[in-house]
Amino acid sequence: MLKDEDRIFTNIYGMHDRTLKGAMARGHWDGTGGIIKKGRDWIIDEMKASGLRGRGGAGFPTGLKWSFMPKESDGRPAYLVVNADESEPGTCKDREIMRHDPHTLIEGCLIASFAMNAHTCYIYIRGEYIREREALQAAIDEAYDAGLLGKNAAGSGWDFDLFLHHGAGAYICGEETALLESLEGKKGMPRMKPPFPAGAGLYGCPTTVNNVESIAVVPTILRRGASWFAGFGRQNNAGTKLFAVSGHVNNPCVVEEAMSITFEELIEKHCGGIRGGWDNLKAVIPGGSSVPCVRGEKMKDAIMDFDYLRGELGSGLGTAAVIVMDKQTDIIKAIWRLSKFYKHESCGQCTPCREGTGWMMRVMDRLVRGEAEVEEIDMLFDVTKQVEGHTICALGDAAAWPIQGLIRNFRDEIEDRIKAQKSGRVSAVAAE
Ligand code: NAI
Ligand code: SF4
Repeated sequence: MLKDEDRIFTNIYGMHDRTLKGAMARGHWDGTGGIIKKGRDWIIDEMKASGLRGRGGAGFPTGLKWSFMPKESDGRPAYLVVNADESEPGTCKDREIMRHDPHTLIEGCLIASFAMNAHTCYIYIRGEYIREREALQAAIDEAYDAGLLGKNAAGSGWDFDLFLHHGAGAYICGEETALLESLEGKKGMPRMKPPFPAGAGLYGCPTTVNNVESIAVVPTILRRGASWFAGFGRQNNAGTKLFAVSGHVNNPCVVEEAMSITFEELIEKHCGGIRGGWDNLKAVIPGGSSVPCVRGEKMKDAIMDFDYLRGELGSGLGTAAVIVMDKQTDIIKAIWRLSKFYKHESCGQCTPCREGTGWMMRVMDRLVRGEAEVEEIDMLFDVTKQVEGHTICALGDAAAWPIQGLIRNFRDEIEDRIKAQKSGRVSAVAAE
């Protein structure tokens, strides 16, 4: 279990003073100007050496992403944009940072922006996060008043402005290019990539989009050293990580732990165990709703990191939003509910997603009721394959993967329901 002194987020439960005074007392904003004076190359090299992989879900190496930004200005301004549009079902880790530990993020914005030659950073915060926006804005105001932002920020010689932009509640605006469109005042529709934002991002200028947690851990990594951070977790899966555990555990929580902790340890040490005991565990979605579910019996010894969950279990760490389902769960209905979500949130600009999400949701609805034919299971799987990889952004994949996980892992349950329904043995399970 991670020791308290190795936790980056010292106020994740809001037990302490979140103001600048409290944050400084807990070690934040310590020597920030000095870190910046070590220079861009040093910062980016340290971030690469730390092994930090993006905490927004995709796990792209953060230091590498920063190195894509132009080293010298070509006349266009560079931007850092922080993706705080946290909307992945099950995911609520960035919320805790912003409302209880906002100075970790603000200090990270300054250092990361300097490293990428950006004098301006925008934080794009989810529309529903009202209290979080208020907490963050109050912290930004305090930082300006204290000279930590603005001209010669934190005595670093770097002029830096930080703006908070409030979204309007569309899940798709968490996709990085839709977010940029929205920030530019347009409809939040994803752009084709490439070009990636480092080449042409906000207003066509070099831009890096990073998740809240990815930026908030930067100051501590640079203060304590890349090797300290890299010492947690397995190779290629370094660091400490916020896990958001919800569903059928005795104590759902957000907790910072070492990467590569086992699922059993995570649940036993922090969540009071599975509701009704381990024999009652049916399925887990280990990384937010976009990754496939895994059968409970395969999860107990699972290593909670990018490579194990994808390579060994065909799922993913995603945002590390761990959704636990016990044997009382109607898993078909649970996945149908996700299908409904993705259909609702599709921006509609590409046909496989616009049409496919609706099609998949309607077949899922029939499976919930047991009113489909058994052959439709393969047909549905085939449709998910037609959507996967054939769309502009990852929402199409995200809509396809939960259904693929359901069919791979719980086909027997889907077939049993259809057979039982045909034989009149059960009444239809009505979808909402
Ligand atoms: P992606 O893999 O396309 O990109 C990840 C990051 O790496 C992006 O910033 C992208 O610009 C960069 N990148 C990738 N390849 C690159 C290249 N060749 N050159 C330069 N930069 C490159 O994934 P995407 O679509 O950004 O994110 C998908 C993930 O987002 C899903 O796995 C899901 O877990 C997560 N997600 C998280 C949500 C949240 O609330 N935190 C909401 C919805 C999805
Ligand atoms: Fe829009 Fe869906 Fe296409 Fe993404 S995959 S751009 S959400 S239609």
